[in-house]
Amino acid sequence: MAARSIVIAQARNTAGIFTAIAALCLPLPSGAETEVTDTDYLQVITDVTASTEQGYRSEFGYAVLVVMDGVRLLFDTGVTAGVLQHNLRQAGVDAADLDFVVLSHNHPDHIGGLAYIRRAAPAVPVLAPPKQGIDGGPVERINGVRRLADHLYVLRTHTDEPTAGISDELSLVALTDEGPYLVTACSHTGLASIVEATTRLTGQAVYFQTGGARLKFRQREDTAAVARRLDALGVRRISPGHCSVDHAVTRVLEENFSGQLELSEVGRRVPLRVSR
Ligand SMILES: [Fe+2]
Ligand SMILES: [Fe+2]
Repeated sequence: MAARSIVIAQARNTAGIFTAIAALCLPLPSGAETEVTDTDYLQVITDVTASTEQGYRSEFGYAVLVVMDGVRLLFDTGVTAGVLQHNLRQAGVDAADLDFVVLSHNHPDHIGGLAYIRRAAPAVPVLAPPKQGIDGGPVERINGVRRLADHLYVLRTHTDEPTAGISDELSLVALTDEGPYLVTACSHTGLASIVEATTRLTGQAVYFQTGGARLKFRQREDTAAVARRLDALGVRRISPGHCSVDHAVTRVLEENFSGQLELSEVGRRVPLRVSR
């Protein structure tokens, strides 16, 4: 596996976002090793848009499964234990097989299913941002960057201008042959700022972003500005979910984002291609 070392210095930008000091060894794609498999993927487990044909249930919560380097991780847990349990079963996933649960922040639409995870998989490590209250068991606090697998990282971002009371949020970064894949929850710390933090972490432009950015609660011009900013930052594909799912938002994104816009849906699998 080709690798290079990158030192991430604490940096603060105009939006007040920072990543903590971290010295990481980020694996980079190797042209000499070309075996690519579909064993690595992300899959939407809970969201507002669900395919009833496939038997999934929908709710206004968010949860994503990421399988990478043999690690199975659940990012957020939706609103209700019942929907999480049902949709994990539909996806063929046993909660007891999870290696990590990452909670982006402690809003109920992201931690509501945690009680089910605590019951079904009491030993699974639960990761969360600093200081936010999480009930029911031990929590590992993430203050900067935590490497969870060869190609998988959890990234904390912070803002001095919190929305809905949230100033810290965790996002996931998967490093693929195409570039970084970024999974966000609500982007309370600002989607463009999280994208910038991901580029500082990896040294590459984000290739794909999925998840929420509170776009359905924003004015049209704000959403257009976010879309143009993502364009300028080199993002190639976006798949808005959760609090960014809205017909009006989709139209604004179509008009202002030049890359590929993809509909998110519960059950959808997105391959994470890595040469090994
Ligand atoms: Fe949310
Ligand atoms: Fe939130």
